[in-house]
Amino acid sequence: MNRILIVGPASQILGVKIAQELGIEYVNTEFKTFPDGENYLRINIEDEGFIADKEVIIVQSTGSSTSGNQNSRLIELLMMIDSVKRMQAKKVNIVIPYLAYGRQDKIFRPGESQFANLIIRILDSMGIDELYIVDIHATEVLEDTFCKTINIDSMKALADYIKSLGAKDIVVVAPDKGAVERSKAFARHFRDNIPVDYFEKKRDVNTGEIAMSGKLSLKNKDIVISDDIIATGGTMATAIKLSKESGANRIYAVATHALLLQNAKYRILAAGADEIIGTDTIDNEAAKVSMAKTIANYLK
Ligand code: R5P
Repeated sequence: MNRILIVGPASQILGVKIAQELGIEYVNTEFKTFPDGENYLRINIEDEGFIADKEVIIVQSTGSSTSGNQNSRLIELLMMIDSVKRMQAKKVNIVIPYLAYGRQDKIFRPGESQFANLIIRILDSMGIDELYIVDIHATEVLEDTFCKTINIDSMKALADYIKSLGAKDIVVVAPDKGAVERSKAFARHFRDNIPVDYFEKKRDVNTGEIAMSGKLSLKNKDIVISDDIIATGGTMATAIKLSKESGANRIYAVATHALLLQNAKYRILAAGADEIIGTDTIDNEAAKVSMAKTIANYLK
């Protein structure tokens, strides 16, 4: 079966790189926002027969950017799936480098929506075949679907980059207890027996304020603080400050999805980080590690 890749509006560079890694043809889209705010999207082809009977891979991140917020990105994704299904694609595989709303996977306060789960249910109900998401906030969200779901692991690619910086005597620090298992998996990519430690973090569900505490043995160590997402930078900046107080040497602030909202970059650097490292699931200056090869390997 012939494979083609559709480069979504939010993953133009990453989409092309994945197609190149796979050695397959790709097409882009034409997209705009109507004056009333509605989204428009068409797949940039002249002949609809081009899609029929092909295996189609759609790549679309759903993080917000200057050219579209996450709601637009999700609508564009639905439009692309709808179009290729209507044009009789034989197989439809979706790659979402960053899943927006991924953190709304639990009910924290009465009356909320478990919206991350709803997004997956909507995608699944559209008759897609495979759904690939890079480092989803909670993998439980991917359970109970008809389609095959795969959480793509970003950790090897991130660890390889950090190793290339010459970090020595590393300790991997998780910004909260919940991230310890993830950090242990991350540490194994450096070498066996890399120490992993964590701070205690509590977030006020009403205000979003975080409180973090802990004193770790970090004297003269190079610290890799690893999280799935950096949003406002509050979690990372606090963990950096505590790491400095615990005697850390160099500090690498690492996240798969470095959204870097508001003044996150300033907060993290001002707290004492030497470098902020993210991947190109989000297209910004912290995207030092490309996920193209890793994603392509999952798709092969
Ligand atoms: C929380 O569960 C996530 O893993 C991150 O720790 C969180 O999203 C980071 O948010 P912020 O940068 O706003 O502190």
